[in-house]
Amino acid sequence: MATPGKDAADSTGSATRELSQTGSFLTTAQGLRLPDTDHSLKAGERGPSLLEDFHLREKITHFDHERIPERVVHARGAAAHGVFEAYGTAESVTRAAFLRAGERTDVFVRFSTVLGSRGSADTVRDTRGFAVKFYTGEGTFDLVGNNIPVFFIQDGIKFPDIIHAGKPHPDVEIPQAQSAHDTFWDFVSLHTEATHHVMWNMSDRGIPRSYRTMEGFGVHTFRLVNADGETNLVKFHWKPVAGVHSLVWEEAQIAAGVDPDFHRRDLADGITAGVPLEFELGIQVMPDDGTETFEDIDLLDPTKLVPEELAPVQLIGKLTLDRNPVNYFAETEQVAFHTGHLVPGIEVTNDPLMQARLFSYLDTQLTRLGGPNFAQLPINAPHCPVNDMLRDGMHQQAVPTGIAPYRPNSLDDGLPEVAGAGDGGYVQTARPVSGFTVRENPVSFGDHFTQPAMFYRSLSAVEQAHIVEAFTFELGKVFEQKIKERQLTVLANVDADLCAQVAAGLGLPAPSGTPVEDVPVSAALSQVVVEPGPIA
Ligand code: HEM
Repeated sequence: MATPGKDAADSTGSATRELSQTGSFLTTAQGLRLPDTDHSLKAGERGPSLLEDFHLREKITHFDHERIPERVVHARGAAAHGVFEAYGTAESVTRAAFLRAGERTDVFVRFSTVLGSRGSADTVRDTRGFAVKFYTGEGTFDLVGNNIPVFFIQDGIKFPDIIHAGKPHPDVEIPQAQSAHDTFWDFVSLHTEATHHVMWNMSDRGIPRSYRTMEGFGVHTFRLVNADGETNLVKFHWKPVAGVHSLVWEEAQIAAGVDPDFHRRDLADGITAGVPLEFELGIQVMPDDGTETFEDIDLLDPTKLVPEELAPVQLIGKLTLDRNPVNYFAETEQVAFHTGHLVPGIEVTNDPLMQARLFSYLDTQLTRLGGPNFAQLPINAPHCPVNDMLRDGMHQQAVPTGIAPYRPNSLDDGLPEVAGAGDGGYVQTARPVSGFTVRENPVSFGDHFTQPAMFYRSLSAVEQAHIVEAFTFELGKVFEQKIKERQLTVLANVDADLCAQVAAGLGLPAPSGTPVEDVPVSAALSQVVVEPGPIA
């Protein structure tokens, strides 16, 4: 049965239920009218407060519990509502109904930094989250992406390691303390699969000018399935209509001090001024030929991208963000994205990073949002009928009637049927699984330097100068000499010239490495986007 809490969400998913600030009388949470909320009940004018003052206790107790834990990562964020309109060009590759021509779907998008706490500055050098919730008629689809197309680690089991290394040191919790620089650079210099992501972070992509000028990436390879059951492997891209623009480092630092809310303010002010944020969604389409590789690139390796000249980005729809949240807590803070929120026609792959994410999001939200019923919060409630067999639990809003649901069942005539693929049911495409249980990466995951070299060589001279300055600045904060030297060796393996310039900036000798030679100078940064048209 549908639940009252779920039904209470309005058609845009906005938190519109006003539990207070309506009516002409102030009341307690129980509806009792109050004569006074400014003075506690005391034993005499100068006496102690009385335990019997239920209003004092309710008011203070509720206040004491106003905060929920911030997200363990991506704590700092800002969000907006909008709409996604499909061009219909993806119909040949996916049966997802919201991608049919002309379909309009409500969306809620949260942008974030990764490492900073809720109150940290917006313009720090970091990866940005780009999480999109599509409230489709077939269920909610979340595309939980970043503004960088690759990730630090190839296997989700290392996520706690990279985050522990990157977060402020536990003693003083000062993000810019030398200790935090040491742990981050210690980890990434020992763990060279991080090199590609680090190159993007040290480039101008690490300090975007505005959320409206960032690209977004689904990072992983997804499997799309069309109405005939045919599959393709795809990478999702968000292309900002306003173009890709970054701050320069001096601007980013000044903004962090003068206006720590620089991006948040820009997002809200732009929408208030009637200038929506616009992005086009595109896909790179690779054949699902059983190899899970494309042009020798392992599509299950999230540290690799597919250059756009090899697979152009084909545009499939447009996102417009034009409405600010009305309540930061109810919407931006309580929204819960999850890579496992999928719709028919969009499936996951065996990428070991993605596989771990499929576990992590729901798990962390059980703590962050206080139990298993947070899908009933207005911002998380699907915009389609919900008819689950889940019952009870903390903060349950529903009042189901009848016997507890179970299947098979000969007593409950009202129990809904399950749906096959033909009825809009989510049926995973059968994919072969074989081999021995191992804790190993495929051999193809072992190349950590070809794409970082490709990325560096695809940058303009100005962008290369910026990346040299960024490495020099950041490594200059590292205390341990051996870490600086080790990271220089990593850079030597990417590009001898890059390494030499950073070494000179640090006043250290340039180590020798085996720099990647003869990689095609590819369009990691150049845009190869084809105008919307049917996807072959
Ligand atoms: C949160 C992206 C890898 C665990 C987020 C958010 C984004 C994101 C955008 C913020 C969601 C929001 O705005 O509420 C990514 C991307 C990844 C990645 C693109 C790699 C390609 C991982 C991995 C794990 C993980 C490997 C764990 C195994 C989490 C957790 C949160 C989070 C626990 C907090 C969620 C919450 O409290 O609601 N991630 N992430 N992420 N991510 Fe990831």
